Amino acid sequence: MTALTDRVDYTITDGVAVLTLNNPPVNALSQGVRQGIKEGVEMALTDPQVGAIVLICEGRTFIAGADITEFSQGLQEPDFHGVLQSMDAASKPIVAAIHGTALGGGLETALCCHYRVAVADARFGLPEVNLGLLPGGGGTQRLPRAVGAEKATEMVTSGNPIGATEALQLGLIDIVVEGDLRAAALAFAADKIGTTSLPRLRDRDEKLQSARDNPGFFDEVRKAISRKTRGFLAPEYNIRCIEAAVNQPFDEGLATEAKLFMELLSGPQSAAQQYFFFAERQAAKVVDLPADTAERPINKVGVIGAGTMGGGIAMNMANVGLPVTLVEVKQEALDRGLAVVRRNYENTARKGRLSAEEVEARCKLIEGSLEMQDLHDCDLIIEAVFENMAVKQDIFTRLDSIARDDAILASNTSALDLNEIAGVTGRPESVIGLHFFSPANVMKLLEVVRGEKTGDDVIKTCMSFARRIRKVPVLVGVCHGFVGNRILFQRQFQADRLAHEGAAPHVIDKVLYDFGFPMGPFQMSDLAGLDIGWSKETSKGASVKDRLCELGRFGQKSSAGYYDYDDNRVPTPAPVATELFAEFAAREGIAQREISEQEILDRCLLPMINEGAKILQEGIAQRASDIDVVYVYGYGWPVYRGGPMHYANTLGLETVVEKLRKYGEQTGSDFWQPAELLLKLAGEGGRFG
Ligand code: 3HC
Repeated sequence: MTALTDRVDYTITDGVAVLTLNNPPVNALSQGVRQGIKEGVEMALTDPQVGAIVLICEGRTFIAGADITEFSQGLQEPDFHGVLQSMDAASKPIVAAIHGTALGGGLETALCCHYRVAVADARFGLPEVNLGLLPGGGGTQRLPRAVGAEKATEMVTSGNPIGATEALQLGLIDIVVEGDLRAAALAFAADKIGTTSLPRLRDRDEKLQSARDNPGFFDEVRKAISRKTRGFLAPEYNIRCIEAAVNQPFDEGLATEAKLFMELLSGPQSAAQQYFFFAERQAAKVVDLPADTAERPINKVGVIGAGTMGGGIAMNMANVGLPVTLVEVKQEALDRGLAVVRRNYENTARKGRLSAEEVEARCKLIEGSLEMQDLHDCDLIIEAVFENMAVKQDIFTRLDSIARDDAILASNTSALDLNEIAGVTGRPESVIGLHFFSPANVMKLLEVVRGEKTGDDVIKTCMSFARRIRKVPVLVGVCHGFVGNRILFQRQFQADRLAHEGAAPHVIDKVLYDFGFPMGPFQMSDLAGLDIGWSKETSKGASVKDRLCELGRFGQKSSAGYYDYDDNRVPTPAPVATELFAEFAAREGIAQREISEQEILDRCLLPMINEGAKILQEGIAQRASDIDVVYVYGYGWPVYRGGPMHYANTLGLETVVEKLRKYGEQTGSDFWQPAELLLKLAGEGGRFG
């Protein structure tokens, strides 16, 4: 065996040279890998003893793509294209032996091999779009030649991988291997020794014909994905590349791909999305947990409260095959909750994403009960009743005597003091916050709230458990509203001020929508319901929201709130809302005026950044990027802008401080006082993170 580099080995078996890549954890195409492949191919081509080449990977996967950490370091030799070119042009057959995930540059490497063999659970994809990029190693030109332009367009715009069975059907791979991959690849390669006319994807274009015959195809795709991809550059750039594959000769198509790739790579969206890729993975790590911290087993879960939240939370467990006991006080409420769960599953089944048997199996896993006592054998119990400290404390007091000694007791509170809840139990080390976001069966974010006394094992268990139920966990500390809602309060407060000062609610919403949020603050309030925390008996009409509720305008559910809604829930701005803001402004002596879109944007976003800085300086979040993960997954912050803290870095922290001071002077309010951490970092020319 020869070690070509510290990442690539070279051996010869029965006339077949085997290049074995070993670059843990995912065999990314780092410099040493590219160098090793280049040298290995050259060596095999000049060695008369070698008749074919196999490219295979050690570890858990085939090459999962370019090394993303290298993008910001500039081009390092050998250039990826040169390596691919030498493989494509090789005079001896090259076989890619694939297991795990052949993604991005990994699949592009395989597409330059003359043959591809793979194990049955291998997956293949070009997920560059998720990094704000497009496949820059010829993938947009070769994949459509392998699987057709239609399938290739779907794969590059969604980033979703396909499995081996589909890959075989489409002609992306030559065989699916049963048994030992290396032995099968060696036998396959040996069989190809002496083949003179090697199959090269660049030479094939019969699978492009159907797209050539249907000139409207790409515009149809654009239309179909436009809602989902609003604001993103990369999906459109990926489509343009496949169009080039269909309409241009291969080498011209490659040049188009290279040009568009460089445009994306040097732009802010890709920088933000690459940053976010690592932010998400960082968030799962807890800095101060001893490495040997044990986890508690979780095999059965209890949920208290069968309302919208509780039902949604229970669905998460059933979705991964975990039995759940769902407890309510009254039979009627329990029946209603279970019916909503069933209806949700049936809706998913109607869309073809679940079979009728799966609907039944999941519903069966959720067992309703009217007795808290039935939670006695649960490993994790999540309380999801309404936000009232006394009610929650009562539940935790009772749980303390019902739950097993080693059970984890969690509250789904979105803002209350977890320490006060934990304080009523004799086991505060077993109490934690698990703040799900609505709809709880859909939203990916889970704020894992660490109380003063929460045990390390409980934190570790919940961080892993979150991933088991396919959530993105972010560890946060106790404060009013934790990370997400605490920051949101600031934005809501300013949006309300702006409306008093003369900006119409729908204009404020539009500015935030155009920034990339799925909706603005007033649309969000209408969706959530304006009557949360409001009661007819005690209402004093002290705010615009109170007055809207007094008028029976509770938001979308009553077809009226800040907007009027038609039967299809299409909103039009409600004049009554603007009039009420004007009335309150006059009463409070606030002069109404024209407010620019820039001021609206600044005044909604800067307080979020400032609050994020306070959260960091208080140690409520572990790192700035965790705040961004909360915002992208929980509140619809556009990922192509990275999150509030990354966005602040792109503005420059000095600019952020200057603007905060400017609005402080303009409004004469302490609200705008920059956080100490922000001042410090801006003073040092620093950044968050
Ligand atoms: N470059 C650098 N590091 C990478 C990486 C990559 N392409 N892919 C994964 N990693 C790192 C992760 O950051 C993580 O590091 P950590 O342990 O220090 O946090 C580690 O590898 C393991 O990753 P995951 O935690 O994500 O492991 P999973 O087993 O859950 O998932 C995976 C494995 C499916 C391969 C997933 O990591 C993934 O989707 N990776 C990215 C794939 C991708 O986007 N490829 C395209 C890259 S761009 C490209 O190829 C451009 C080309 O066209 C020119």
